[in-house]
Parts: sequence; structure tokens; C-alpha cells
Amino acid sequence: MSKPKKDPQKSNIKDPSGNDKISESFEKPAIICSDIVKDYEIGDYIVRAIDDISLSINNGEFVVIRGPSGAGKTTLLNLIGGLDSPNNGTIFSLGIKISDLKEESLSTWRLINSGFVFQNYNLISTLTAEENIIFPINLSGVGLKMGRERAVSLLKKIGLNDRREHLPFQLSAGEQQRVAIARALANDPPIILADEPTANLDKKTSQIVRDLFKELKNAIKTIIIVTHDDYLIGLADKIIDFDDGKIVNEEITHKNKS
Ligand SMILES: Nc1ncnc2c1ncn2[C@@H]1O[C@H](COP(=O)(O)OP(=O)(O)O)[C@@H](O)[C@H]1O
Ligand SMILES: [Mg+2]
Repeated sequence: MSKPKKDPQKSNIKDPSGNDKISESFEKPAIICSDIVKDYEIGDYIVRAIDDISLSINNGEFVVIRGPSGAGKTTLLNLIGGLDSPNNGTIFSLGIKISDLKEESLSTWRLINSGFVFQNYNLISTLTAEENIIFPINLSGVGLKMGRERAVSLLKKIGLNDRREHLPFQLSAGEQQRVAIARALANDPPIILADEPTANLDKKTSQIVRDLFKELKNAIKTIIIVTHDDYLIGLADKIIDFDDGKIVNEEITHKNKS
């Protein structure tokens, strides 16, 4: 059974009267997308991948996005995670208007605030498992010694401490995906985004990855995950069905809240 969901902001909110009474209006959105549009222009053709959508995701929410291939799911994840910017509309994440940020500020924002798990892992091929995890930690300004300690603790958490010296090509698909998840967690970001993280994995490794996401849910991270995996869908607080660049259905399940 999952632990009761605590809102991370709740304990920080004081009553305006000055008492330490906790405010009840704590359900603050982590992410607010308003009227966002994303077009891809290739030659004479324009593909509207995201077609004027608005969406709000609360702190600590576990959101599943699902839909057919080409629906725009990856594009939406890239926009929410600050990997790309919309042509129109605004995206606020953790109070910052990320849709207006230039690439340099956006990459700094990403480093601290969002951990991205890509469908094809995207590990740096010339770096070992451990170095792939240390890399974003160093970029955030943390020294090598502390970075290594954190990487080792993450490698232990994902059960791959004995593979720390392995290069990506020396790891199985499932092991690469686990290292990619550890890398996404390297700077302990409040938002985790994952694009079909179990899609290319066998049954056993899929379950290890599922369990990692369940742990993250219990750790009250805001999680946005594109998936068709029934187990992960079962963890969702909100399910967004996406097609043709639009939200076709939004279902709040709160299934695991107690
Ligand atoms: N970098 C790109 N350049 C041009 N078109 C793209 C690019 N990325 C995605 N698209 C197009 O945008 C649409 C949505 O793609 P995508 O977000 O990858 O969908 P999904 O993840 O749901 O399969 C598709 O029609 C795809 O061909
Ligand atoms: Mg995709």
C-alpha cells in the first residue's frame, strides 16, 4: 500500500494572520500550460504537433499521458520539461514562465528542476554509468567527491553498483534505462518526466522500472509519464488522453491517495 500523499508545500504555508495554522488552499499547480501551440516546419509543410491546449498539473501529482503514435505526446513532454519552447501560449513551471526563457536560462532551469527519462535512454556513449550520473551533478556546481557519492548511492538504489564502470554499450537495455532514471534523479529535481520508459524492456526489467516509479510517487515528486503500461497507469492520479495534438479526455483517478 502506498504512503499517504503529503503535499510538499503544505508544511511551508503559514496562516496570513501570523499563526502557524496550515492553510487549506495548498493544492498549488506545479505546471500551468495555457493555450500552447507547437508547430514543426519542414520545407513547405507545417505539422501542428500541439494544437492549442491548456493543462494544469499539481505538485506531487502522478500524471499519465497516453495516445496513439504521432499524437504529440513526446512534443508535449518536451515543452513541459523545458527541452523545447512553444510557438504560442505560456508554460509556467514552479512559478517560472519557462515558455519565455532563452536556451541558456532554460538549460539551467532544467538542470535543477526537471529530470527527463528518454524513450531511447540517451546516455552519453563515452561515459561510464557512474560518469553519466555524475555529469549533471557537476554541471549544477556540486564538486566531484559529493557528485560521486550521490552517483554511487543512486547506482545502489537501482541495483547497478557493480556496473558503475560499464559504458552504455556494455549494458543491457533495461540497465541503460535504469541508469537513465538515476541520471534524471541526479540533482533530486521536483519534476520527473518520462517518455514510454518501459516500452522497450522485457517483463522483468519493466517491473524494476515500474517499482522505481512507484517509489518516486511515494517520494511526492511531480511525475509526468507518457505510457501505455497498465501498472504505471494504475499509479496515476490523473490520466490525459491525447490525440492529434489535443487533449481528448482528462480523468482524475486519485486512486492511490489515501
Ligand atoms: N523534430 C520534429 N520535426 C518535425 N516534425 C516533428 C518533430 N517531432 C515530432 N514531429 C511531428 O509532430 C507530430 C507529433 O510527434 P510526437 O510528439 O513525437 O508524437 P508521439 O510522441 O505522440 O508519437 C508527428 O506528426 C511528428 O511527425
Ligand atoms: Mg513519442
